[in-house]
Amino acid sequence: MTLEIFDLSGKVAMVTGSTRGLGEVAATALAKAGADVAVCGRSQTDLKRVSSAIKQLGRASAGFALDVTSKESVRTGVDQILQHFGKIDILMNNAGVNHRVSVLDFPEKEWDLIINTNLKGYFLVTQAVAPQMLERGYGKVINMSSILGMIGLPNQLAYASSKGGVDQMTKVMALEWAKGGVRVNAIGPTYFETELVTQIRDDPERFDFINERTPMGRWGRLHELEGIVIFLAAPASDFITGQTILIDGGWTAW
Ligand SMILES: NC(=O)c1ccc[n+]([C@@H]2O[C@H](COP(=O)([O-])OP(=O)(O)OC[C@H]3O[C@@H](n4cnc5c(N)ncnc54)[C@H](OP(=O)(O)O)[C@@H]3O)[C@@H](O)[C@H]2O)c1
Repeated sequence: MTLEIFDLSGKVAMVTGSTRGLGEVAATALAKAGADVAVCGRSQTDLKRVSSAIKQLGRASAGFALDVTSKESVRTGVDQILQHFGKIDILMNNAGVNHRVSVLDFPEKEWDLIINTNLKGYFLVTQAVAPQMLERGYGKVINMSSILGMIGLPNQLAYASSKGGVDQMTKVMALEWAKGGVRVNAIGPTYFETELVTQIRDDPERFDFINERTPMGRWGRLHELEGIVIFLAAPASDFITGQTILIDGGWTAW
């Protein structure tokens, strides 16, 4: 085995929601493995901050303001990335939101926002990016799911529904494009400390519940996402498609 199978030199990656959190970790990991990176999100300040940090690693990078809930914004953003970089080899759908309330109190507005961002957003972006991958006969799509695509937890109505949908979407896309050279896989993380989960991190009871429920006894550490992202983006995983790989300290092995 050589490290060439993990080499992303000459590849262009687009990562949605890479202005902070797990998306920033993923975008930086892809750059460390050799890819040029289109950083996507809505915060102009963070687009500049993350793309500058990636350029410091010696890779080409630029920020693209793109709202995944808007088809028009997605199409414009993808066109701009294709104009700038000439192609997209690796797409990571990662932008996500959450709202934790019981089923009976769940507001329709929050349901719509979560499904439109976490599920429909992945569809809109992939539909815009995949044609040029299929034309070239090569591409890697990585969908950020969650353990909540597989398990349920109270107060996670829309979020768990969206992630279950992402796992299913991953299979359908993988089947349609298997012979076209485009691999589609998902990552299902447990809890990692980002802005999305501050509410839970700051609640000692819920923080401890997660530690106790996890066989390895702790939350994920941000750098522990890097390996799986690089693996799914690289030739090392070329015969894997349609899978969700859980990164959860053993949670779902119970
Ligand atoms: N943290 C965890 O424990 C955990 C566990 C499992 C799965 N995940 C998943 O990992 C992904 C990233 O989560 P995170 O924890 O890193 O959250 P985060 O720190 O809150 O980051 C969310 C990212 O999504 C972007 N975003 C939100 N709505 C958007 C929209 N409409 N259009 C474009 N970008 C949008 C945000 O960028 P702007 O604000 O700049 O637009 C930001 O970059 C999500 O899909 C989440 O479900 C997280």
